[in-house]
Amino acid sequence: MQHILYFLKQIHAYSGKILYINMFAMMGISLLEGVGILLLVPMISISGIVDLGTGAIPIVGNLFSFLEGIPSSIALPSILAVYVLIVISQNVMNRQISVKNTIIQQGFLRHVRIETYSSLLRSNWDFYIKKRKSDLINLLTSEIARASAGTNSFLQFVASLVFTVIQIGLAFVLSPNITVFVLLCGLMLIFFNRKFLARSLELGNKNYELGRNYLAGITDQMNGIKDIKSNTLEESRLDWFSSITKRIQTEQVEYTKLRSTSQLYYKVASAILIAGFIFIAINMFSAQAGQLMLVIVIFSRLWPRVAGIQASLEQIATMLPAFKAVKALQQECRVSQEFTSKSDKSIKPLEIKKGIFCENISFKYNQDTEKYALNNVNLSIPSNQMTAFVGKSGAGKSTLIDLLMGLNQPQKGRVLIDDALLTSDNLVALRKSISYVAQEPFLFNTSIKENLTLVVPDATEEQLWSALEFSSAAEFVSKLPDGLDSLIGDRGVKLSGGERQRLVLARAILRSPSILVLDEATSALDTDNEAKIQEALERLKGKMTIIVIAHRLSTIRNADQVVVLDQGEIIQTGEFAQLANEKRSMFSHLLRNQMEATN
Ligand SMILES: Nc1ncnc2c1ncn2[C@@H]1O[C@H](COP(=O)(O)OP(=O)(O)OP(=O)(O)O)[C@@H](O)[C@H]1O
Ligand SMILES: [Mg+2]
Repeated sequence: MQHILYFLKQIHAYSGKILYINMFAMMGISLLEGVGILLLVPMISISGIVDLGTGAIPIVGNLFSFLEGIPSSIALPSILAVYVLIVISQNVMNRQISVKNTIIQQGFLRHVRIETYSSLLRSNWDFYIKKRKSDLINLLTSEIARASAGTNSFLQFVASLVFTVIQIGLAFVLSPNITVFVLLCGLMLIFFNRKFLARSLELGNKNYELGRNYLAGITDQMNGIKDIKSNTLEESRLDWFSSITKRIQTEQVEYTKLRSTSQLYYKVASAILIAGFIFIAINMFSAQAGQLMLVIVIFSRLWPRVAGIQASLEQIATMLPAFKAVKALQQECRVSQEFTSKSDKSIKPLEIKKGIFCENISFKYNQDTEKYALNNVNLSIPSNQMTAFVGKSGAGKSTLIDLLMGLNQPQKGRVLIDDALLTSDNLVALRKSISYVAQEPFLFNTSIKENLTLVVPDATEEQLWSALEFSSAAEFVSKLPDGLDSLIGDRGVKLSGGERQRLVLARAILRSPSILVLDEATSALDTDNEAKIQEALERLKGKMTIIVIAHRLSTIRNADQVVVLDQGEIIQTGEFAQLANEKRSMFSHLLRNQMEATN
């Protein structure tokens, strides 16, 4: 329940007083509907089909007693005219309200989406390491929509509750006894039908889980489609797919069964109650025709409302898991917020004068494990020089770079930028001065040009080509049929691994960063192209701080400083030539292995 309240508060904060106006209008409509029924009384009486006898129904009788003096030739048309007017205005209002409600609901949906997505984008890297991406996508697409639709059904439920109260009031005026009887029966049914609510909640949970697993499965498979095809895994994947879709189908059918069963109970109960009531009324109390008429009118008006309340409750119960999930995500994002500033446009890139320093840094990915990915690391990375990290796979090189960029925070020790501690205050400024090429280059599924201008929207063609020149990419791009406008497919599948790397490198350079971070950025390149990039980097030395990770040691021959990592610890630091001369060290061991491999 508190989840719904949370969303109601949000929708209230979002839409303000329009919400109340709509609620009042909805009540107005129901009042008109009620007056519509009241008008039936004199109509029936005038038509002379049934003699209601004004005395038979106390208040209403008096209400319409003024009609008695008027000849029926005038009274009937005027009552009918009023009736038509009421129905028209009721429906016009209804239309207005539905449009307004949709405006509110869609606006609210967008508001929650933007809020959730922006807090997602501001969440730190640690949050993403622990989350499954497809779960986040599922939340952003289906669950948010379900939660906001759920908020709407709750509002409708409240409105229909108000309707019901008004209708009950009117029915009470017409006949207190029958109304109380109908209400007691309704309450009893709702009480006995509680189990449907519990079951709805259960089905809602199942629906959430299934939707999540479905999306996670297909995302994984579409990402790994090449492996699936080349290892002939199609059949086993299809088996999985047909089993999960079967479960989704069963769940939906179950839900429909549940809803229709509980509604069936109401319909059957209503028929039995009316029949029983009429039977008793005629046989025991020899009731008047007018009163029987009332029984039917009240039943047919009130009973669907009672059944509707049950239906809304069931619907809300199935939406609850979506509410919970969205709220939990917002909460998590809030906790792992990386920086708080709303807009970072005004923040200028950081200028680093001395360098970046690590003091006694230790870091582990998982709090529960003993093993540190980095252990007691002390390091200084002087500005405008080239620092290279080497070491075996899994030594902690990428992890250390993530810490330097403030993506992860060390559990022990600290990172200093010049003399200032790296905190959320200078984080954005630091990131603005960095261009980073990740170990797995990422490109968006659009044209080469758009991939490049993503980082510098107003870059000229000339700047683009000079960046491509830098990364030895100009040649292959100019040979593509559409040049800069060529589309490169999902994650750049239409390019070779080395071409992708060079494009990403061009993008990094285009930003003219003061710190360039390359994590295995040239690993997929042939020696010719790599040598060209190496020369280009050489020209940058002294102008920007360059941090490189490389397995191929020839790449870092010109580095000012080489740092050797092993099992999360720094075991050697120095110039390339100096380290190469340290016999029996890790570095000379790595170097020897590579020399042997290339000879
Ligand atoms: N997201 C993660 N969660 C848990 N452990 C991780 C995670 N990422 C890396 N590790 C662990 O941290 C250690 C260091 O990983 P890291 O990626 O820094 O190695 P690396 O030196 O960059 O290796 P490579 O040369 O293969 O890229 C490894 O033992 C790895 O298993
Ligand atoms: Mg790595």
